[in-house]
Amino acid sequence: MTFMISEFGPLEQVASTLHSTVYKTVTTKPRIISLFILEQANLSDDFTVALKKTQPDEESPPHNSRHELHLLQRFQSRPGQSSNPNIVTLLDHFTQTIDLYETAQFIVMPWYCTDLTGYLKHHAKFIKRKRDTFNAYLMPGLSTQTANKSKSKPKYENQISESDSNAIVKGLSSALTFIHSQGIIHRDIKPSNIMFKSFEDPTPILIDFGISYDLQNPQYRHPDEKDPKNKFTDICTTIYKPLEVIFGLRGYGTEIDVWSLGIVMTLLYSSDLKSCIMGGENEEDEEDGSGFSGDIGLLFALISWFGKPTLQNWPEAKESTTFMNMFAGAGDQDEEQPEDSQFTMNLQKLIPRAGGHVRDIFKRMMVYQSTERITAKEMFELLK
Ligand SMILES: Nc1ncnc2c1ncn2[C@@H]1O[C@H](COP(=O)(O)OP(=O)(O)OP(=O)(O)O)[C@@H](O)[C@H]1O
Ligand SMILES: [Mg+2]
Repeated sequence: MTFMISEFGPLEQVASTLHSTVYKTVTTKPRIISLFILEQANLSDDFTVALKKTQPDEESPPHNSRHELHLLQRFQSRPGQSSNPNIVTLLDHFTQTIDLYETAQFIVMPWYCTDLTGYLKHHAKFIKRKRDTFNAYLMPGLSTQTANKSKSKPKYENQISESDSNAIVKGLSSALTFIHSQGIIHRDIKPSNIMFKSFEDPTPILIDFGISYDLQNPQYRHPDEKDPKNKFTDICTTIYKPLEVIFGLRGYGTEIDVWSLGIVMTLLYSSDLKSCIMGGENEEDEEDGSGFSGDIGLLFALISWFGKPTLQNWPEAKESTTFMNMFAGAGDQDEEQPEDSQFTMNLQKLIPRAGGHVRDIFKRMMVYQSTERITAKEMFELLK
């Protein structure tokens, strides 16, 4: 369906998911968005903006775009200026009747030129298309279908500088510190929700608060997750899911975002723009669901990298019936995280391009027991 919105030029659709459509456009008549706001937001001269269109009455939980708008409004220190440089700016919003049956909500944001995957590819060296075959059964969490697909995948050499990677992690830990201090769990930290204004500026901008949870204000919570002990678990995307979500621990907290960020780091500090967690596949494969064999595949991959979860290293798991049935059998109690030397070897493969300081932080992020996991604030302090 095509439509025009009077204050904007033609809309170019750049992304479409089940829950939203995002357009790139220009503001032809900055009537709604005042010039002051445009200046504050540092928009390009042609006033390029992104419009995210949702249909609040049609969406299914945990998606809630009215809540997303409410949060974005809260995150602005004044109109068109985000309180935190690593959080998306809200320029404007409006609802519009598209036809007889459809009322849509639009949020207007500055146009960010790329997500994290695109940013990394821009700085990578393109080597060749992979032609070699390999045995899918040797790779944790990887289906045969994926193995076959990967034969024709392009190969990249990650060339982003260590200092730029560190700046990205620092920016993301700042964004998380900011939202966590307000009791907000993002619940979907992943490369396609991390944007950049330009390929030259490693300042990450966190977007997409469409499934975020507010621990402090119950007002926008879905009735089925009013109680924070009973939050939805169909959150986070594929490999970015932490163990507490995989095992249905519905009382999870802000710590889940830190775990997901750790997984993002396995892409950021990889040697070839592929996270080891999915046996070397990249996010494009995972986005359509065909590149990854689901939570079970992820579970086995996590065990192979971070060790077997036990009631010793993950006491909170006793609340999970699934975990108790799968892992808490007699004789399993002695198993520990991998030996330190093994873990150090795994770090070499998981984040080969990270320096020692970042490796130490990463080690404290990838901890099963959420109460023992480093917080975003602690990360930010250490990265200062
Ligand atoms: N301000 C922006 N500038 C440029 N592109 C954007 C902007 N906002 C969103 N996009 C693009 O649109 C995509 C979808 O936006 P967003 O993540 O907010 O929607 P979503 O429906 O919640 O997505 P998903 O559920 O897949 O995470 C983003 O991954 C990004 O590629
Ligand atoms: Mg998104």
